[in-house]
This record gives sequence, C-alpha cells and structure tokens, in this order.
Amino acid sequence: VATRVAIELADARGFRYTDLDDDLLERGRRWLAEGVVPEGQQVRERRVYRWGDLAIKFFPLVSKPRLRDRFRPSAAVRSADTYRRIRPVPSPRPRLALEAGDGASLLVYDWVDGDSVDVLWGVDEAAIAALPAFLASMHERRVFHGDFHVHNFVWDGEAWVLLDLVGVRHALRSFARGRRLAIDHWAYLLWGLDHHAGADEAEVRPLFDEYTRLSPTLAPRDWRKVVRGWRGLLRRAGQL
Ligand SMILES: Nc1ncnc2c1ncn2[C@@H]1O[C@H](COP(=O)(O)OP(=O)(O)OP(=O)(O)O)[C@@H](O)[C@H]1O
Ligand SMILES: [Mg+2]
Repeated sequence: VATRVAIELADARGFRYTDLDDDLLERGRRWLAEGVVPEGQQVRERRVYRWGDLAIKFFPLVSKPRLRDRFRPSAAVRSADTYRRIRPVPSPRPRLALEAGDGASLLVYDWVDGDSVDVLWGVDEAAIAALPAFLASMHERRVFHGDFHVHNFVWDGEAWVLLDLVGVRHALRSFARGRRLAIDHWAYLLWGLDHHAGADEAEVRPLFDEYTRLSPTLAPRDWRKVVRGWRGLLRRAGQL
C-alpha cells in the first residue's frame, strides 16, 4: 500500500493518504483557496474546523519565512508524515494535505470524538488510569510533543489520541534530553490539571509513580523536578 500519493492541481499540490473521492479533493482545494470551511463547524477561528467525521486545519503562510521553511515540506505535510512516524502512538489519520504556492497549507484528517483530560478529570476513571501508559508509550518511542498542553490530546473512549502533530520533535538520541522533555511533559500536565480542573499535586503524583513503573525514563524521585517545572510555568503565567 502506498503511504501517500502526490496530487497536482492548478493552484495547489500535496498528497493524499487514503482513497479520496473527487468531491473531497475539490472541497479541499476550495477551502485552501478561501481560507475557511463554510460547510463545517468552526472549532477555532480560521484555524480548525469540523466537517462530519473530518477535521480541517489551516496552517497560514509564514510572513517572514526562515531559510529552513523555504526548503522543507509545508506544515500540513509534515503533520501528516508525523502520523506515520510516531505509530503506534495514536493520532488522527491524515487524509489529504494541500499546499498553495505561497506556502500556506491545509490538512484534512479524522475528527476524534472525545474529550480532553481536564474535562475527564474526576469524571472518567478509565481515561485517567490510562494516562501513565500513554505517556510511557510515547516516551519509550521517544515521541516528545513540543507543546504538550492538556488540549493537545483527547480520549476517544478507548485510548488517548495525540493532536497537533506539527509540534512533535524528531526522535532525539540524547538520553539526558529525553529525561528533560519527559519532565516537561509532566510539568505541563500538572499545570493543566491544576489550572483547568483544580487538581492538586498529591492527586497527580500517583499517576506519575505509575508512569515510572512503566517507563525507565524517569524515577519517582524526579517528581520534585516536575513540581519545580510546574512552578516555573506558574511564574511564567504570572500566577506565582
Ligand atoms: N482531529 C481532531 N479531533 C478532535 N478535536 C480536534 C482535532 N483537531 C483539533 N481539535 C480541537 O481543536 C483544538 C485546536 O487544534 P490544534 O491543537 O491542532 O490547533 P492549534 O491552533 O495548533 O492549537 P494550540 O496552538 O493551542 O495547541 C484542539 O485542542 C482540539 O480541541
Ligand atoms: Mg493544539
């Protein structure tokens, strides 16, 4: 099975990642050209839309492109490629990535029907209990999300699904760096659970301990570094 198939249109180019009907291709072309999905529900203005069981995300052109942005694939194509690279870590399946001549791009991918962790905190025990294994499996595969905030992963009823893949870093070889990034993930999670769901440190700690049983990346004594990271985030947000 081909992993992706190149698409050339008059005013856009890109790839499809699944079988695609002409109707969706034509809509994608129009969405990219117009910068909006009129038939969809707006999730985030001019950024993310839902249309049926599909999500549509716009990556606007970079106004002052850095040199590397001129030579690497568009953000939509990079996101779609990352889906495959991080498997079996769950993330929404890409269907179509299109880029315009100016570098703006659009990704059509599966909509995940679910909720974020701050919504499920204290509500869905199975979802919360699955958090340590979710982080452990990412870190085992050296998948580090550069922006691991609580709205960048959702529970689909069976598993945690990672969103916003453009923020996923390439696998890093340095062990020390992996530890640092894992601590950052936990600090971000603690910050988000406190900020959005009113969770406290003592409630999150058992999840971390469970994580350290599943992953060799960190040990229980690293919790104090997580708490320090969280305080740093609070300071940055002007909350401390
Ligand atoms: N495929 C999807 N399924 C379900 N919800 C989605 C999907 N894609 C995006 N969302 C929702 O839209 C929000 C924004 O999407 P995303 O994180 O990709 O955009 P973003 O603009 O890069 O966000 P941010 O920079 O704040 O992280 C997500 O937090 C999530 O609530
Ligand atoms: Mg996001």
